[in-house]
Amino acid sequence: MIYADITGWGKCAPPAILTNADLSTFLDTDDAWIVSRTGMKERRISHVPVSDLAHVACARALAAAGKSAGDVDLIIFGSCTFDQMVPNASSRVQQLLAADNAACIDLNTACTSGMYALSVATAMIKAGSVKNALVIGAEVTSVLMDWSDRDVAVLFGDGAAAFFLEVKEEKSGVVAESLGCFGKNRDILDVTGWGLKYANKGLVLGETKWNFNGQEIFKRAVVGMSRACDIVLEKEGLTYEEIDLVIPHQANLRIIDALAKRMGASEEKVYINIHRYGNISAATTPMALVEALEEGRVAPESKLLLPAFGGGLTWSAHLLHWGDRIKPIGTTDVDLPPCDKTGLQLVQEIIAAKK
Ligand code: ACO
Repeated sequence: MIYADITGWGKCAPPAILTNADLSTFLDTDDAWIVSRTGMKERRISHVPVSDLAHVACARALAAAGKSAGDVDLIIFGSCTFDQMVPNASSRVQQLLAADNAACIDLNTACTSGMYALSVATAMIKAGSVKNALVIGAEVTSVLMDWSDRDVAVLFGDGAAAFFLEVKEEKSGVVAESLGCFGKNRDILDVTGWGLKYANKGLVLGETKWNFNGQEIFKRAVVGMSRACDIVLEKEGLTYEEIDLVIPHQANLRIIDALAKRMGASEEKVYINIHRYGNISAATTPMALVEALEEGRVAPESKLLLPAFGGGLTWSAHLLHWGDRIKPIGTTDVDLPPCDKTGLQLVQEIIAAKK
Protein backbone atom coordinates (compact mmCIF):
# COMPACT_ATOMS: atom_id res chain seq x y z
CA MET A 1 0.00 0.00 0.00
CA ILE A 2 1.18 3.50 -0.83
CA TYR A 3 1.17 6.38 1.66
CA ALA A 4 2.13 10.07 1.49
CA ASP A 5 4.68 10.71 4.21
CA ILE A 6 5.27 14.28 5.44
CA THR A 7 9.04 14.68 5.17
CA GLY A 8 9.34 18.47 5.20
CA TRP A 9 7.67 21.31 7.09
CA GLY A 10 8.13 25.05 7.31
CA LYS A 11 6.37 28.20 8.44
CA CYS A 12 6.49 31.89 7.67
CA ALA A 13 5.18 34.26 10.33
CA PRO A 14 5.41 37.86 9.13
CA PRO A 15 7.41 39.90 11.67
CA ALA A 16 4.99 42.79 12.42
CA ILE A 17 2.97 42.13 15.59
CA LEU A 18 -0.48 43.58 16.37
CA THR A 19 -1.20 43.32 20.10
CA ASN A 20 -4.52 43.51 21.91
CA ALA A 21 -3.40 46.91 23.24
CA ASP A 22 -2.84 48.06 19.62
CA LEU A 23 -6.40 47.02 18.75
CA SER A 24 -7.79 49.02 21.66
CA THR A 25 -6.26 52.20 20.16
CA PHE A 26 -8.91 52.20 17.40
CA LEU A 27 -11.62 49.76 18.58
CA ASP A 28 -13.82 49.72 21.69
CA THR A 29 -12.11 46.64 23.12
CA ASP A 30 -9.41 45.72 25.62
CA ASP A 31 -6.82 43.06 26.39
CA ALA A 32 -8.86 41.54 29.25
CA TRP A 33 -11.95 40.97 27.02
CA ILE A 34 -9.94 39.50 24.14
CA VAL A 35 -7.85 37.19 26.34
CA SER A 36 -10.79 35.95 28.42
CA ARG A 37 -13.14 35.40 25.42
CA THR A 38 -10.61 34.07 22.89
CA GLY A 39 -7.18 33.31 24.45
CA MET A 40 -5.53 35.59 21.86
CA LYS A 41 -2.77 38.01 22.89
CA GLU A 42 -1.27 39.06 19.58
CA ARG A 43 -1.38 38.30 15.86
CA ARG A 44 0.85 39.01 12.85
CA ILE A 45 0.17 41.48 10.04
CA SER A 46 1.87 40.82 6.71
CA HIS A 47 3.81 43.49 4.80
CA VAL A 48 3.93 41.24 1.69
CA PRO A 49 1.35 39.39 -0.44
CA VAL A 50 0.18 35.93 0.64
CA SER A 51 2.17 34.21 -2.13
CA ASP A 52 5.40 35.62 -0.71
CA LEU A 53 4.61 34.18 2.73
CA ALA A 54 3.79 30.85 1.07
CA HIS A 55 7.04 30.92 -0.91
CA VAL A 56 9.17 31.27 2.23
CA ALA A 57 7.22 28.53 4.04
CA CYS A 58 7.68 26.23 1.02
CA ALA A 59 11.42 26.95 0.72
CA ARG A 60 11.76 25.98 4.40
CA ALA A 61 9.65 22.83 3.94
CA LEU A 62 11.79 21.77 0.98
CA ALA A 63 15.01 22.37 2.94
CA ALA A 64 13.58 20.38 5.85
CA ALA A 65 12.90 17.48 3.46
CA GLY A 66 16.35 17.81 1.86
CA LYS A 67 14.78 18.42 -1.58
CA SER A 68 15.24 21.06 -4.22
CA ALA A 69 12.54 23.00 -6.06
CA GLY A 70 13.09 21.07 -9.29
CA ASP A 71 12.01 17.86 -7.51
CA VAL A 72 8.46 19.11 -6.85
CA ASP A 73 5.64 17.42 -8.84
CA LEU A 74 2.67 19.36 -7.45
CA ILE A 75 1.87 22.49 -5.45
CA ILE A 76 -1.54 22.83 -3.75
CA PHE A 77 -2.15 26.26 -2.24
CA GLY A 78 -4.93 26.35 0.37
CA SER A 79 -6.24 29.84 1.15
CA CYS A 80 -9.20 32.19 0.80
CA THR A 81 -7.09 35.34 0.34
CA PHE A 82 -5.34 34.68 -2.96
CA ASP A 83 -3.55 37.66 -4.53
CA GLN A 84 -5.30 37.03 -7.86
CA MET A 85 -7.82 34.64 -9.38
CA VAL A 86 -5.98 34.52 -12.72
CA PRO A 87 -3.22 33.47 -12.79
CA ASN A 88 -3.56 31.35 -9.69
CA ALA A 89 -1.43 31.83 -6.57
CA SER A 90 0.23 28.41 -6.68
CA SER A 91 1.78 29.34 -10.05
CA ARG A 92 3.30 32.40 -8.34
CA VAL A 93 4.83 30.11 -5.71
CA GLN A 94 6.11 27.84 -8.49
CA GLN A 95 7.70 30.89 -10.16
CA LEU A 96 9.30 32.18 -6.93
CA LEU A 97 10.67 28.74 -6.04
CA ALA A 98 11.66 27.93 -9.66
CA ALA A 99 9.77 24.65 -9.19
CA ASP A 100 9.40 24.37 -12.95
CA ASN A 101 8.21 20.75 -12.99
CA ALA A 102 5.25 21.25 -10.64
CA ALA A 103 1.54 21.25 -11.44
CA CYS A 104 -0.27 24.05 -9.59
CA ILE A 105 -3.67 24.03 -7.86
CA ASP A 106 -5.40 26.67 -5.70
CA LEU A 107 -7.96 25.39 -3.19
CA ASN A 108 -10.41 27.33 -1.02
CA THR A 109 -12.39 25.87 1.87
CA ALA A 110 -11.77 28.94 4.08
CA CYS A 111 -10.02 28.10 7.36
CA THR A 112 -9.76 24.38 6.56
CA SER A 113 -8.04 25.03 3.20
CA GLY A 114 -4.59 23.91 4.36
CA MET A 115 -6.02 20.65 5.69
CA TYR A 116 -8.21 19.97 2.65
CA ALA A 117 -5.10 20.63 0.53
CA LEU A 118 -3.32 17.98 2.59
CA SER A 119 -6.14 15.52 1.77
CA VAL A 120 -6.03 16.26 -1.96
CA ALA A 121 -2.24 15.97 -2.17
CA THR A 122 -2.29 12.72 -0.18
CA ALA A 123 -4.99 11.27 -2.45
CA MET A 124 -3.10 12.26 -5.62
CA ILE A 125 0.10 10.67 -4.33
CA LYS A 126 -1.77 7.49 -3.34
CA ALA A 127 -3.47 7.38 -6.75
CA GLY A 128 -0.08 7.60 -8.46
CA SER A 129 -0.84 10.93 -10.20
CA VAL A 130 2.27 12.48 -8.61
CA LYS A 131 5.17 11.23 -6.51
CA ASN A 132 5.35 14.21 -4.20
CA ALA A 133 3.66 17.51 -3.39
CA LEU A 134 4.06 20.81 -1.60
CA VAL A 135 0.96 21.63 0.48
CA ILE A 136 0.38 25.21 1.61
CA GLY A 137 -1.95 26.82 4.12
CA ALA A 138 -1.45 30.60 3.95
CA GLU A 139 -3.56 33.65 4.59
CA VAL A 140 -3.46 37.44 4.62
CA THR A 141 -6.90 38.36 5.98
CA SER A 142 -5.66 41.74 7.25
CA VAL A 143 -6.24 43.33 3.82
CA LEU A 144 -9.86 42.11 3.71
CA MET A 145 -10.70 42.74 7.36
CA ASP A 146 -13.40 45.22 8.36
CA TRP A 147 -11.22 47.01 10.89
CA SER A 148 -14.22 48.96 12.25
CA ASP A 149 -15.94 45.74 13.45
CA ARG A 150 -14.64 44.63 16.85
CA ASP A 151 -16.63 41.36 16.64
CA VAL A 152 -14.20 40.01 14.01
CA ALA A 153 -11.22 42.38 13.76
CA VAL A 154 -9.69 41.05 16.99
CA LEU A 155 -9.84 37.40 15.89
CA PHE A 156 -7.65 37.04 12.80
CA GLY A 157 -3.99 37.32 11.79
CA ASP A 158 -1.69 36.55 8.83
CA GLY A 159 0.82 33.75 8.22
CA ALA A 160 1.77 30.65 6.24
CA ALA A 161 2.89 27.06 6.70
CA ALA A 162 3.80 24.34 4.22
CA PHE A 163 4.52 20.61 4.06
CA PHE A 164 6.43 18.43 1.62
CA LEU A 165 4.81 15.02 1.06
CA GLU A 166 6.37 12.07 -0.70
CA VAL A 167 5.52 8.47 -1.54
CA LYS A 168 6.27 5.90 1.15
CA GLU A 169 5.32 2.26 1.45
CA GLU A 170 5.13 2.13 5.26
CA LYS A 171 2.01 3.47 6.95
CA SER A 172 2.61 7.22 7.39
CA GLY A 173 1.21 10.70 6.77
CA VAL A 174 -2.59 10.98 6.64
CA VAL A 175 -3.93 7.51 7.50
CA ALA A 176 -7.58 8.53 7.98
CA GLU A 177 -9.62 11.66 7.45
CA SER A 178 -13.15 12.98 7.64
CA LEU A 179 -14.26 15.97 5.58
CA GLY A 180 -17.63 17.71 5.55
CA CYS A 181 -19.56 20.96 5.42
CA PHE A 182 -22.63 22.45 7.13
CA GLY A 183 -23.74 24.14 3.89
CA LYS A 184 -27.18 24.89 5.33
CA ASN A 185 -25.48 27.20 7.83
CA ARG A 186 -23.14 28.89 5.38
CA ASP A 187 -24.76 32.31 5.97
CA ILE A 188 -23.57 32.55 9.59
CA LEU A 189 -20.09 33.39 8.29
CA ASP A 190 -20.66 35.49 5.19
CA VAL A 191 -18.41 38.29 4.00
CA THR A 192 -19.90 40.93 1.71
CA GLY A 193 -17.57 42.46 -0.89
CA TRP A 194 -15.24 39.46 -1.19
CA GLY A 195 -15.78 37.64 -4.50
CA LEU A 196 -17.37 38.05 -7.90
CA LYS A 197 -20.94 38.00 -6.53
CA TYR A 198 -20.24 41.65 -5.70
CA ALA A 199 -18.63 42.71 -9.00
CA ASN A 200 -20.56 45.20 -11.18
CA LYS A 201 -23.06 45.86 -8.37
CA GLY A 202 -21.81 49.29 -7.38
CA LEU A 203 -19.71 47.75 -4.62
CA VAL A 204 -15.95 48.05 -4.42
CA LEU A 205 -14.38 44.59 -4.20
CA GLY A 206 -12.42 44.37 -0.98
CA GLU A 207 -14.75 46.78 0.88
CA THR A 208 -15.80 43.98 3.18
CA LYS A 209 -18.54 43.70 5.77
CA TRP A 210 -18.44 40.55 7.89
CA ASN A 211 -21.78 38.95 8.78
CA PHE A 212 -20.37 36.84 11.55
CA ASN A 213 -22.55 35.05 14.08
CA GLY A 214 -19.83 34.16 16.57
CA GLN A 215 -21.96 32.13 18.97
CA GLU A 216 -23.56 29.98 16.25
CA ILE A 217 -20.17 29.39 14.60
CA PHE A 218 -18.80 28.46 18.01
CA LYS A 219 -21.44 25.75 18.57
CA ARG A 220 -21.12 24.23 15.10
CA ALA A 221 -17.33 24.30 15.30
CA VAL A 222 -17.40 22.14 18.42
CA VAL A 223 -20.00 19.74 16.98
CA GLY A 224 -18.33 19.51 13.53
CA MET A 225 -14.82 18.92 14.85
CA SER A 226 -15.94 16.40 17.49
CA ARG A 227 -17.95 14.44 14.93
CA ALA A 228 -15.03 14.45 12.47
CA CYS A 229 -12.65 13.21 15.20
CA ASP A 230 -15.03 10.41 16.20
CA ILE A 231 -15.33 9.27 12.57
CA VAL A 232 -11.57 9.27 12.03
CA LEU A 233 -10.84 7.30 15.20
CA GLU A 234 -13.55 4.79 14.35
CA LYS A 235 -12.05 4.30 10.87
CA GLU A 236 -8.72 3.37 12.45
CA GLY A 237 -10.16 1.49 15.43
CA LEU A 238 -8.45 3.86 17.87
CA THR A 239 -9.55 5.53 21.11
CA TYR A 240 -8.76 9.08 22.24
CA GLU A 241 -6.33 7.63 24.82
CA GLU A 242 -4.23 6.25 21.98
CA ILE A 243 -3.70 9.68 20.41
CA ASP A 244 -0.37 11.25 21.36
CA LEU A 245 -1.20 14.88 20.51
CA VAL A 246 -4.30 16.76 19.37
CA ILE A 247 -3.45 19.77 17.19
CA PRO A 248 -6.73 21.65 16.64
CA HIS A 249 -7.68 24.65 14.52
CA GLN A 250 -7.06 27.71 16.70
CA ALA A 251 -10.12 29.99 16.39
CA ASN A 252 -10.95 30.38 20.07
CA LEU A 253 -9.34 28.88 23.17
CA ARG A 254 -12.81 28.16 24.56
CA ILE A 255 -13.67 26.13 21.44
CA ILE A 256 -10.45 24.14 21.92
CA ASP A 257 -11.27 23.61 25.61
CA ALA A 258 -14.81 22.41 24.78
CA LEU A 259 -13.41 20.01 22.19
CA ALA A 260 -10.73 18.69 24.57
CA LYS A 261 -13.39 18.14 27.24
CA ARG A 262 -15.52 16.07 24.84
CA MET A 263 -12.44 13.97 24.01
CA GLY A 264 -11.39 13.66 27.63
CA ALA A 265 -7.98 15.01 26.54
CA SER A 266 -5.67 16.41 29.22
CA GLU A 267 -3.98 19.82 28.76
CA GLU A 268 -0.63 18.32 27.80
CA LYS A 269 -2.23 16.33 24.98
CA VAL A 270 -3.57 19.45 23.23
CA TYR A 271 -1.27 21.81 21.33
CA ILE A 272 -2.08 25.53 21.58
CA ASN A 273 -0.45 28.57 19.95
CA ILE A 274 -3.53 30.82 19.61
CA HIS A 275 -2.04 33.40 22.00
CA ARG A 276 0.72 34.15 19.46
CA TYR A 277 -1.19 34.27 16.17
CA GLY A 278 -4.96 34.40 16.69
CA ASN A 279 -6.82 32.64 13.89
CA ILE A 280 -4.65 32.50 10.74
CA SER A 281 -7.47 30.81 8.82
CA ALA A 282 -5.99 28.34 6.28
CA ALA A 283 -2.55 28.54 7.92
CA THR A 284 -3.80 27.85 11.45
CA THR A 285 -3.67 24.06 11.81
CA PRO A 286 -0.61 23.65 9.53
CA MET A 287 1.25 26.35 11.52
CA ALA A 288 0.30 24.63 14.79
CA LEU A 289 1.72 21.31 13.51
CA VAL A 290 4.96 22.99 12.41
CA GLU A 291 5.35 24.71 15.79
CA ALA A 292 4.51 21.51 17.68
CA LEU A 293 7.41 19.87 15.78
CA GLU A 294 9.75 22.80 16.46
CA GLU A 295 8.91 22.68 20.18
CA GLY A 296 9.58 18.95 20.47
CA ARG A 297 5.92 18.13 21.13
CA VAL A 298 5.81 15.53 18.34
CA ALA A 299 7.65 12.30 19.15
CA PRO A 300 8.87 9.92 16.42
CA GLU A 301 6.13 7.49 15.31
CA SER A 302 3.40 9.42 17.12
CA LYS A 303 -0.29 9.51 16.30
CA LEU A 304 -1.61 13.03 15.78
CA LEU A 305 -5.23 14.17 15.49
CA LEU A 306 -5.90 17.46 13.67
CA PRO A 307 -9.51 18.76 13.72
CA ALA A 308 -10.40 21.98 11.89
CA PHE A 309 -13.37 24.08 10.74
CA GLY A 310 -13.96 27.17 8.66
CA GLY A 311 -16.37 29.25 6.60
CA GLY A 312 -18.86 27.20 4.62
CA LEU A 313 -19.06 25.85 7.33
CA THR A 314 -16.44 23.30 6.36
CA TRP A 315 -15.08 20.84 8.93
CA SER A 316 -12.42 18.16 8.94
CA ALA A 317 -10.24 15.87 11.02
CA HIS A 318 -7.01 14.18 9.98
CA LEU A 319 -5.23 11.34 11.71
CA LEU A 320 -1.49 11.41 11.00
CA HIS A 321 1.11 8.74 11.66
CA TRP A 322 4.31 10.69 12.05
CA GLY A 323 7.52 9.11 10.78
CA ASP A 324 10.79 8.60 12.60
CA ARG A 325 12.35 11.98 11.72
CA ILE A 326 11.29 15.02 13.72
CA LYS A 327 14.23 17.29 12.81
CA PRO A 328 14.70 19.10 9.48
CA ILE A 329 17.40 17.75 7.17
CA GLY A 330 18.44 21.27 6.17
CA THR A 331 17.67 24.97 6.40
CA THR A 332 17.52 27.80 3.85
CA ASP A 333 18.47 31.48 3.66
CA VAL A 334 15.21 32.28 1.84
CA ASP A 335 13.38 34.89 3.93
CA LEU A 336 10.93 37.77 3.68
CA PRO A 337 12.20 41.27 2.91
CA PRO A 338 12.67 43.28 6.14
CA CYS A 339 9.65 45.13 7.51
CA ASP A 340 10.24 48.58 9.02
CA LYS A 341 6.64 49.05 10.21
CA THR A 342 4.73 47.91 13.26
CA GLY A 343 1.57 45.82 12.97
CA LEU A 344 -0.45 48.86 14.01
CA GLN A 345 1.13 51.01 11.29
CA LEU A 346 0.34 48.38 8.65
CA VAL A 347 -3.29 48.19 9.81
CA GLN A 348 -3.57 51.98 9.82
CA GLU A 349 -2.34 51.98 6.21
CA ILE A 350 -5.03 49.43 5.23
CA ILE A 351 -7.72 51.52 6.96
CA ALA A 352 -6.48 54.71 5.26
CA ALA A 353 -6.36 53.04 1.83
CA LYS A 354 -10.01 51.96 2.20
CA LYS A 355 -11.08 55.54 2.92
N1 ACO B 1 -14.23 43.70 22.63
C1 ACO B 1 -15.09 43.98 23.63
N2 ACO B 1 -16.36 43.57 23.66
C2 ACO B 1 -16.79 42.83 22.62
C3 ACO B 1 -15.95 42.50 21.54
C4 ACO B 1 -14.63 42.95 21.57
N3 ACO B 1 -13.74 42.67 20.59
N4 ACO B 1 -16.66 41.74 20.66
C5 ACO B 1 -17.90 41.63 21.19
N5 ACO B 1 -17.98 42.28 22.36
C6 ACO B 1 -19.12 42.39 23.24
C7 ACO B 1 -20.41 42.12 22.55
O1 ACO B 1 -20.87 43.29 21.89
C8 ACO B 1 -21.29 41.70 23.70
O2 ACO B 1 -21.74 42.86 24.35
P1 ACO B 1 -23.26 42.93 24.92
O3 ACO B 1 -23.34 41.82 25.95
O4 ACO B 1 -23.34 44.31 25.49
O5 ACO B 1 -24.14 42.69 23.73
C9 ACO B 1 -20.33 40.99 24.64
O6 ACO B 1 -19.01 41.40 24.26
C10 ACO B 1 -20.40 39.48 24.56
O7 ACO B 1 -20.41 39.12 23.19
P2 ACO B 1 -20.63 37.63 22.76
O8 ACO B 1 -20.82 37.56 21.27
O9 ACO B 1 -21.64 36.97 23.64
O10 ACO B 1 -19.22 37.01 23.12
P3 ACO B 1 -18.78 35.51 23.02
O11 ACO B 1 -18.40 35.07 24.37
O12 ACO B 1 -19.73 34.67 22.23
O13 ACO B 1 -17.45 35.62 22.17
C11 ACO B 1 -16.58 35.29 19.93
C12 ACO B 1 -17.49 36.13 20.82
C13 ACO B 1 -15.16 35.45 20.42
C14 ACO B 1 -16.69 35.78 18.50
C15 ACO B 1 -17.02 33.81 20.04
O14 ACO B 1 -18.41 33.70 19.84
C16 ACO B 1 -16.28 32.94 19.06
O15 ACO B 1 -15.09 32.72 19.19
N6 ACO B 1 -16.97 32.39 18.07
C17 ACO B 1 -16.35 31.55 17.07
C18 ACO B 1 -15.45 32.40 16.24
C19 ACO B 1 -14.80 31.58 15.23
O16 ACO B 1 -14.80 30.41 15.31
N7 ACO B 1 -14.22 32.22 14.26
C20 ACO B 1 -13.62 31.51 13.19
C21 ACO B 1 -14.62 31.38 12.12
S1 ACO B 1 -14.26 30.14 10.98
C22 ACO B 1 -12.84 30.49 10.43
O17 ACO B 1 -11.90 30.02 11.02
C23 ACO B 1 -12.77 31.44 9.21
